[in-house]
Amino acid sequence: MSGRLFIKKTVDQVQHEATTHSLKRSLGPANLVLFGVGCIIGAGIYVMTGNAAATYAGPAVLLSFVVAGLACAFAGLCYAELASTMPVAGSAYTYSYTSLGEVFAWTMGWLLVLEYGVAAATVAVGWSGNVVSLLGNYDIVLPDWLTSPYIQAAPDAAGTLIFSAGHGLNLIAAAGILTVTVLLVIGVAESAKVNNVIVIVKVGVLLAFIVYGVAFINVDNYDPFIPPNEGGFKYGVPGIFRAASVIFFAYVGFEAVSTAAAESKNPQRDMPIGILGSLFVCTAIYMLVAAVLTGVVPFRELGVPAPIALAVDRMGIPWFAIMIKIGAIAGLTSVMLILTYGQTRIFYSMARDGLLPRAFATVHHKFRTPWIGTIILGIIIAIAAALLPISILGDLVSLGTAVAFAIVCISVMWLRRSRPDLKRPFTAPGGALTPILGIIFAGIMAAPLIWDIIDKAMSGDPIPAIILSTYILLGALIYGFYGLSHSRLAQGLPILDDSALPSPMEAQAFGLNEKR
Ligand code: ALA
Repeated sequence: MSGRLFIKKTVDQVQHEATTHSLKRSLGPANLVLFGVGCIIGAGIYVMTGNAAATYAGPAVLLSFVVAGLACAFAGLCYAELASTMPVAGSAYTYSYTSLGEVFAWTMGWLLVLEYGVAAATVAVGWSGNVVSLLGNYDIVLPDWLTSPYIQAAPDAAGTLIFSAGHGLNLIAAAGILTVTVLLVIGVAESAKVNNVIVIVKVGVLLAFIVYGVAFINVDNYDPFIPPNEGGFKYGVPGIFRAASVIFFAYVGFEAVSTAAAESKNPQRDMPIGILGSLFVCTAIYMLVAAVLTGVVPFRELGVPAPIALAVDRMGIPWFAIMIKIGAIAGLTSVMLILTYGQTRIFYSMARDGLLPRAFATVHHKFRTPWIGTIILGIIIAIAAALLPISILGDLVSLGTAVAFAIVCISVMWLRRSRPDLKRPFTAPGGALTPILGIIFAGIMAAPLIWDIIDKAMSGDPIPAIILSTYILLGALIYGFYGLSHSRLAQGLPILDDSALPSPMEAQAFGLNEKR
């Protein structure tokens, strides 16, 4: 039985799957960096940074970006090694299937639901906050029950976030996801250029915020830069690390570049450039935005649904505020689209391997998209966005991502030992040090999250613990009762027919197959 759980795909099988896919190899390094930046920048910077500063780190959130960025850099190098060795779609899920075995692949697929599906819900909540803020500029005030989640997050007297059931449903966030779902079902053809424009807009908005905002900085707001610890993770050095685990979310997506390995012209050279390049660009932008944000607004006031919007409102230039908010909404829309797309693709890969019902791999005859899976996932993500506050959603994403990163680093070490013969066009530098540091930093990201969840549960606030345990249990049950007995690999069957792959049109939606 234990052997059955660790059944592996061979690298040759995976490479064969790669050669039979129907996606074109048309991406160069610039596209990959652009794609990466497009996936990365979203609610993390538009929403979570303000919340992390208000609740945990104060202006020292800038240092949190360095910690989180380092965690991503080490894991990113490991991703790049695996992506160059196995330039296939499916990313970390496929890497685990090959190196560690099926039960790890399943675990990774289930973690990726946090990294993509739950992340899409998180971004939708940030999107909703910015929509509400923009409408406010036109004196349109939506009722609370339409814009606040069922589970409410509110600070207690000591400033610790406490969760409780409320009366609202964030239907604006749910509507955002459902709209994106419709676009994904019909294939959003011809939107490659739109996507590239949106990437430029969302980076442009942040650059404008930095350039205009500098003049509004009040240096008194940086004092104290590291506010003294007020107990637990509230400020001080523990707060910097807790904030790092929150804004870790802002980097989620950089490894999505590795999922484009199958469509890259020269994965051997371009994958590391795409992954590390986009990471570097985003870290620089994030730190500058955080410096302006905490310089313009006293950090304790930043725990709102749309902190950047609050800062531009404080600048008192109405047209600029509206421009920034529209840019933020456009940017967040594209991230919702990319993350939901990523989620459908991961379930598509898992269904082709028989680990999930075939419905997730059923392709629409006209739209050539995995439409049933997209609709099911869209509804589930929309429900999560309507029910949960951004703080719980974001923490789940960061936790799932940290564990996924650790598994990727372990896969690198495992594969180096078990298959030293494999051609590795890119090898992460530093020998075993890089994956080991990747694992340590993943631990540094995960530890405050786990600590906080346990601490909350012990002090009578069990909601995050209940959600996390239910999620883990559900994953184990689906694998135990479905995946284990339907695995095509275990039955000696080939993966589901390749001709069923969605057309490159889907990938085009994200600028992936654009001819240059
Ligand atoms: N990194 C993405 C964001 O910040 C998920 O929205």
